[in-house]
Amino acid sequence: MTLHRRSFLAASLAGLATTSLGGCTYEDSIYAAVLDEMTQPVPAKPEIRDLVRYATLAANGHNTQPWQFRAHRDDIVVLPDQARRTPVVDPDDHHLYASLGCAAENLSLAARARGMAGAVRFTPAGQGRVSIQPAPRDESSLFAAIPKRQCSRMIYDRRSVPAHVIRRLAAVASSYDVEGVFVTDAKRMEAILTLVIDGNSRQVDDPAFVAELRDWIRFNPDDAAATRDGLYAASSGNPTMPTWLGRRLFDVFFDKETENDKYAKQVRSSAGIVVFIAASNDKAGWFNAGRAYQRFALQATVDGLKHAFINQPVEVPAVRSALQSLLGIGDRRPNLVVRYGYGPVMPKSLRRSVDAVIV
Ligand SMILES: Cc1cc2nc3c(=O)[nH]c(=O)nc-3n(C[C@H](O)[C@H](O)[C@H](O)COP(=O)(O)O)c2cc1C
Repeated sequence: MTLHRRSFLAASLAGLATTSLGGCTYEDSIYAAVLDEMTQPVPAKPEIRDLVRYATLAANGHNTQPWQFRAHRDDIVVLPDQARRTPVVDPDDHHLYASLGCAAENLSLAARARGMAGAVRFTPAGQGRVSIQPAPRDESSLFAAIPKRQCSRMIYDRRSVPAHVIRRLAAVASSYDVEGVFVTDAKRMEAILTLVIDGNSRQVDDPAFVAELRDWIRFNPDDAAATRDGLYAASSGNPTMPTWLGRRLFDVFFDKETENDKYAKQVRSSAGIVVFIAASNDKAGWFNAGRAYQRFALQATVDGLKHAFINQPVEVPAVRSALQSLLGIGDRRPNLVVRYGYGPVMPKSLRRSVDAVIV
């Protein structure tokens, strides 16, 4: 579901970029100011808005940021924002609730780091609630990694990850009754790649999917800083350019062969793949899958690893059943698929202001 997944722009188009990699334009400075605002450290005596700001740095589908936050005396509620659904790629809101889980996990880590309980529960009404009652301070390495975590949809350097690091990652990936299935064997990774390509091909053949994706792409830093959401082209290694041009080129050059080829290179450059499988196939389970992913991603960041989602096999129902067979998990629903390895740091995607998400 991504631009990355859709690096529609041939390298030769880089010359059309309005923002050269070396130069710094006015647009870049607005982008930098937003980035600076959103990644400020959480003060020793934080306000609710500081905790919420760290929550919003979580991963979320298409970077629509489908969340709202409401503070009560004892907890902060994490609510879905129905206006920010992605109905084509995520018709049942699976990714939306996983995204809420990612945000709740960040919020919990930030609360604990500043002397609050941070206990998380998911209510029957479909909301996450994070306790802010006083508790001993617990400032974890995962908390410190929150502003550094990002998805890096680039080619990695093929290095394998030491066994002791995998053990650490596996421990956090299997939090909250979620199973993190690690695949490092080349043949099995290749089998998952086949499903990524199958899913991607079906999605790119669907005009509604392509239109939804295109709507969420931000083609230049000005655009990214104006909306503070969406998939910023530079984060996926694409050149930036005026929106009108980006859209035109997307329409002409975005095709499944190029995308599939890119996925093949990306997966083959990765050290491994982890599939997250929650204990229940419902909103609570999807939320927990997001929480477990977020912990995995933060631990990976601590360990100097990069990661990116390759969710096509869980987004297309027919391909999802093939993934279930491949993993031998019966009818349990695989929630999220993530590759990891050693790779480059990329320009970050932006987040909306705290004022826009506190209700
Ligand atoms: C539930 C969920 C599904 C996602 N699916 C994909 C995906 O299929 N492909 C992809 O490249 N990124 C995917 N992402 C990553 C988001 O696009 C990314 O988190 C968002 O753009 C913000 O960027 P950041 O994580 O670098 O801060 C997904 C994230 C979440 C939480």
